[in-house]
Amino acid sequence: MLILGIETSCDETAAAIVDGERTILADVVLSQLDEHRPFGGIVPEIAARSHLHHIDRLVAEAMARAGIGFGDLDGVAATGGPGLIGGVIVGVMTGKALALAAGKPFLAVNHLEGHALTARLTHGIDFPYLLLLASGGHCQLLAVEGVGRYTRLGATIDDAAGEAFDKAAKMIGLGYPGGPALQRAAALGDETRFALPRPMKGKPGCDFSFSGLKNAVRLLVERLPRPLGQQDAADVAAGFQAAVAESIADRTRRAIRDFQVRWPAGRHLVVAGGVAANTRLRQSLIRLGSETGLEFLAPPLGLCTDNAAMIAWAGIERLRLGLVDGLDFAPRPRWPLDPNARKLSGAGVKA
Ligand code: KG4
Ligand code: ZN
Repeated sequence: MLILGIETSCDETAAAIVDGERTILADVVLSQLDEHRPFGGIVPEIAARSHLHHIDRLVAEAMARAGIGFGDLDGVAATGGPGLIGGVIVGVMTGKALALAAGKPFLAVNHLEGHALTARLTHGIDFPYLLLLASGGHCQLLAVEGVGRYTRLGATIDDAAGEAFDKAAKMIGLGYPGGPALQRAAALGDETRFALPRPMKGKPGCDFSFSGLKNAVRLLVERLPRPLGQQDAADVAAGFQAAVAESIADRTRRAIRDFQVRWPAGRHLVVAGGVAANTRLRQSLIRLGSETGLEFLAPPLGLCTDNAAMIAWAGIERLRLGLVDGLDFAPRPRWPLDPNARKLSGAGVKA
């Protein structure tokens, strides 16, 4: 089985070809970072125009790298949401047009399902497993029970984890995107110098919150001589990173307890999303895995961050079950994986 995947829901334009044997034949990703950097964040209109400008070329490049023609495909999968709607429309329209022209099935993939199923592409693991999805737009803990079957155990009530990294980095005076810059600065810092709160630690449930921590960083930075010296910046960065890692670890520990009772066959704790690149967080999660008897799995970084291989793979999983979409599929700016999860409010709650 050969599927073309298309991803355009945020600030990466991507196309990939994946086969049913879990081989990635082509994986092309174009980041729009340089286009958004002058604005210190993603500008939706710029993102949509840029997707439109590049997507045809990227699809052609993926097809050429895989050495196949459209007639060889078994289907075309595109991210159908959630995400910035202008970009989602570009990807969905491109996917539908290609599917129609080639006479192949069209599959509208939930971007979050793409992240959620990546560990089955990279590690071939069985359901069920526990997923921590921590990216610029999302922060959730999900029991992944099967294709299209998810139970959300916790989610952020305000900012997403990556969003918190980006905002803290901005306050400390580091570049955009903040996560990688903050991690680099933190490597030279002392995480114990400043006592920052561990949001939600010890609270019931598995939800996340980062806005209080962000505020604490703002107040701390205001107290320090400005512009921040290199050591002060490094110490604030290290303190923030430790607070996020420990908060996420505490929430995940609670989710694991819940998961192990409700899905006793589960063996894996999986991470996805750009924040999964954070080595301090990974250390906490590896420790947590070994304490609780779950194996910690992290897809390679390029498959943790936004990409089209995960969309193609989710398309394969869906096509195998006959879950094909019509050409009347309407792009969805919001699209929760678990429709029964209770509603949360807040800027980071994008699904
Ligand atoms: O998954 P992703 O590439 O895009 C989406 O948001 O969907 O995640 C990007 C986010 C950004 O907020 C970025 O600052 C964060 O992931 N990030 C990191 C690190 N690398 C990327 N956060 C913490 N530590 C990192 N090393
Ligand atoms: Zn994503």
